[in-house]
Amino acid sequence: MLRVNDIYRSFGERAVLQGANFALKPGTINGLIGPSGGGKSILLKIIAHTCKCEYGSVVFDKGISVTDVGLMFQEGALFDSMSVYDNIAFPLVGGKVPTNSLPKEVRESVCEKISEILARVGLTRAAYKMPAQLSGGMRRRVSLARALVGRPKILLLDDPTSGLDPVASSVIMDLIVELHREYSPTTVLVSHDLRRLLPAVERILALFDGQIAFDGSLSDLAQSAPAFVRSFVSCRFELPALPTEPSVTV
Ligand SMILES: Nc1ncnc2c1ncn2[C@@H]1O[C@H](COP(=O)(O)OP(=O)(O)OP(=O)(O)O)[C@@H](O)[C@H]1O
Ligand SMILES: [Mg+2]
Repeated sequence: MLRVNDIYRSFGERAVLQGANFALKPGTINGLIGPSGGGKSILLKIIAHTCKCEYGSVVFDKGISVTDVGLMFQEGALFDSMSVYDNIAFPLVGGKVPTNSLPKEVRESVCEKISEILARVGLTRAAYKMPAQLSGGMRRRVSLARALVGRPKILLLDDPTSGLDPVASSVIMDLIVELHREYSPTTVLVSHDLRRLLPAVERILALFDGQIAFDGSLSDLAQSAPAFVRSFVSCRFELPALPTEPSVTV
């Protein structure tokens, strides 16, 4: 379980998070949705401890710490001056890239992990390319590989398909679901692409006005989410039809 307790965060006058609360079950894949500028990225960064909150706490399960969190930043955020290989090695070696100066056994183990994840994301031949030589979709796959290479127990993916064409978006989303099936990290996936996101997740968290306004499954969303959440979703995704009342014949 990962528990986010009453998080507050503001920037200047603007209170972005105003008491965000939720808990995640281990191994689940959860979608975080909400309007642009609503604080989704900030919330993921607070969970990953790359951003501070003014009030509240993030509590991990016993035996889990912030080092078990993998965050894929919005827009990918690769290091442009490093090869694909070094970008992916970065979290594994605590930033000690290039890896030449590390002991041979460490280098070999790092190399094995990177080769494995590059094969999974279909980028084996791009290992020594620089980010500028890659397409947008390939860069996203490198970011995904970097978030996943350490097999984090908690995986936070911030809008991994934004700006990609429909084919590249489907490739990324399918890969996320497939990788999740393989080792089930507790995952939070942010996306504006609700048509791809909602069918892929077990649970939906909707962040509105700095709070979690809805937390439940897709059918719960269709039936019992607040009207503003339903209308936000239904502009982008056809909600499942509500069961109709059985007709009574007299
Ligand atoms: N470092 C910062 N300094 C000042 N304001 C910031 C900073 N980071 C975020 N904000 C503000 O916090 C608010 C929430 O931003 P955030 O990026 O978390 O939204 P979001 O829900 O991820 O939006 P999107 O869906 O567009 O990615 C925005 O108003 C943004 O301008
Ligand atoms: Mg964002």
